[in-house]
Amino acid sequence: MKRNILTIILLVTCNISSFSQTRQPLYKDKNAPIEDRIENLLGLMTLDEKIKQMNQWTYGQNANPNNIGDKMKAVSPLIGSLLYRSTHPEYRNQIQKKAMEESRLGIPIIFGFDCIHGYRTIFPISLAQACSWNTDLVKKSCEISAKESWLSGLDWTFSPMLDVARDARWGRVSEGYGEDSYATSQFAIAAVNGYQGANLADKYTIAACLKHYVGYSLSEGGRDYHYSDVSMQTLWETFLPPFEAGIKAGAATVMSGFNDISGVPASANHYTLTEILKEKWNHDGFVISDWGSVRNLVEQGVAKDKKEAGMKSFLAGVEMDMVDDVYVDYLPELVAEGKISMTAIDEAVRRILRVKMQLGLFENPYVDVVSEENRYLLPEYLEVAEQLASESMVLLKNDNQTLPISSKYKNLAIIGPMAKDSINIMGSWEGMGRPEDVETIYEGLEKEFKNKADLHYAKGCDFDGDDRNGFSEALKAAEKSDVVIVFLGEKKNWSGENGSRSSIALPKIQEDLVEELLKAKKPIILVLSSGRPLELIRLNKLADAVVEIWQPGTMAGSAVAGILSGRHNPSGKLSITFPQSTGQIPIYYNMRESARPTLGHYQDIPRDPLYWFGHGLSYTTYEYSNIKLSSTQIKRSETLTAEVEVTNSGDIDGKEAVLWFIKDPVATISRPMKELQFFDKKFIKAGEKAIYRFEIDPMRDLSYVDSFGKKHLEAGDYFVIVNEQKISFQIID
Ligand code: GLC
Repeated sequence: MKRNILTIILLVTCNISSFSQTRQPLYKDKNAPIEDRIENLLGLMTLDEKIKQMNQWTYGQNANPNNIGDKMKAVSPLIGSLLYRSTHPEYRNQIQKKAMEESRLGIPIIFGFDCIHGYRTIFPISLAQACSWNTDLVKKSCEISAKESWLSGLDWTFSPMLDVARDARWGRVSEGYGEDSYATSQFAIAAVNGYQGANLADKYTIAACLKHYVGYSLSEGGRDYHYSDVSMQTLWETFLPPFEAGIKAGAATVMSGFNDISGVPASANHYTLTEILKEKWNHDGFVISDWGSVRNLVEQGVAKDKKEAGMKSFLAGVEMDMVDDVYVDYLPELVAEGKISMTAIDEAVRRILRVKMQLGLFENPYVDVVSEENRYLLPEYLEVAEQLASESMVLLKNDNQTLPISSKYKNLAIIGPMAKDSINIMGSWEGMGRPEDVETIYEGLEKEFKNKADLHYAKGCDFDGDDRNGFSEALKAAEKSDVVIVFLGEKKNWSGENGSRSSIALPKIQEDLVEELLKAKKPIILVLSSGRPLELIRLNKLADAVVEIWQPGTMAGSAVAGILSGRHNPSGKLSITFPQSTGQIPIYYNMRESARPTLGHYQDIPRDPLYWFGHGLSYTTYEYSNIKLSSTQIKRSETLTAEVEVTNSGDIDGKEAVLWFIKDPVATISRPMKELQFFDKKFIKAGEKAIYRFEIDPMRDLSYVDSFGKKHLEAGDYFVIVNEQKISFQIID
């Protein structure tokens, strides 16, 4: 009897579990461990379902006119991802519903998009953000971008872009954080934390994507997509650290670049994609190719056809194929031919499913639908946008205290093609930013100087061309004004992707306009909006003051007007060097020293660049004093504290970013002339002071890295450099 009861109990239990199994497969159980859920799902998937997960199609086209997205395909409910260019969450939810309910296993789609420096609230371009040296504010802007994106139906952004760039002919210099690896690493961390928040499964957080992995900015001659010759030592010293920082910060995804890395393209490079990213750094998310970069392996001459391209990319470590359908077309054959194993397919799909589960997409596949006025451009977002824009602007020159504009001036000439612009002022990759949202510079000035001064506007000329008919009107405006403010710059498509230029000078007509305005014999303030450093060797001499405002985005008007009026005290410092001229490229602060430092420079221009990395003026003055070290001699295992006292010796409150560099004058390999290893920005009231401290960890901050990524800390003399002042110390055995 007992045995019968036991048998009945066992049978009933099995039925319940299998019944629950049919009703609620493990992978749908949000309380089960993610890895168990993945394995359960993988075990249920067909090869076709697995391979479809490894593909991203476009839904509309991205913000880059150079990549005209194929007209939207009928979305397969099995597709892994969509590059989603719509602002309608309900549309996303409809598509997601297809995936959840019309497919056998109900695997959610991950929706991605290029939210690079804002989604609808547009922040300054990333190159500008770096000049703020304010990682908290950058993180905040990414949080806002994530919320606007999430509420528009996105789970994923193809950002931050971490290409350390030193050739301003390359248009994509606008998308990164400048010429320094350490700075780029810090902004990588800020961006990943901003986008991903504390938990990817939380609402309003989106997966980050570190791009373009790796060495893309060395595209020869600054010509986009071209061959990049990267020494392994340079790869480890300069280009990999920001990606490592982003991975350590928890970035869910990585995007492989278009560029060739010294013979092995980034999208087929097993060393970078697997040995470093997966095996050394233990990244457990996935890699997506860049737009068609799998197919491009054929053009790069490393694959005879798309099938071989797909095989090479997959085996190197690219898990998802962006828009060129190579994987979906050829992986089935490659598996059937035994050239790609099911084990490898499973590992790739495992990584994609892991990110989808971390995002909580299985439990929450849909996003909330809220009204546009509750989704975009909230007042607190615009406040952050104005603050970040103003803190990113760099006062390059200010002779005779021309700025801020004196209250004595009652007539201001507002000249130039950028003054009333609402399109180019947002920069490239403007996401879903709209010109009608932008407060133009002129609108900002009208508000700022209302009842204080009269504005006399004249466009003067277009951004380019040779129509000088507007010069006379501009000169008239200048002649009846106390000061002439000229707003010049670049069109947004002169930088960004495929935005390479053989010269970084502004078109001659813009320079000629300034020459013409000199006839008015009034102070000239030059305000430049660009996506790159500009060639200012001629213009700089003509102006009493020069401000680089970059491409400040939605709140351009208030930010620029605040800087010009003094409501914002400029605190930006260059994150990239301004060469004298295009011909001086590449020139960057952390070059190696020449064999003959005083020789070998171009004979026809000054030896130094026009403005070095780290340059930026303020309306107040800061005195650096009492630089001291906690010791002048430490062992390798000990730490060292450097500190400096900064006094705001002027009469205007301000924020000061202190940049700390180290120098190793003699080492087994040559070292850069100096290397940024820490920075900090603080608000200091007029007349007050602040102490800035740099806690030096010798292995982290003083070592050099070899061609294999191994760090070496050598005994010997070192320097800490702050505000051009050097203080020496020793590392002893
Ligand atoms: C582009 C860009 C990349 C972008 C991708 C998707 O070609 O290189 O930065 O994220 O396509 O739009």
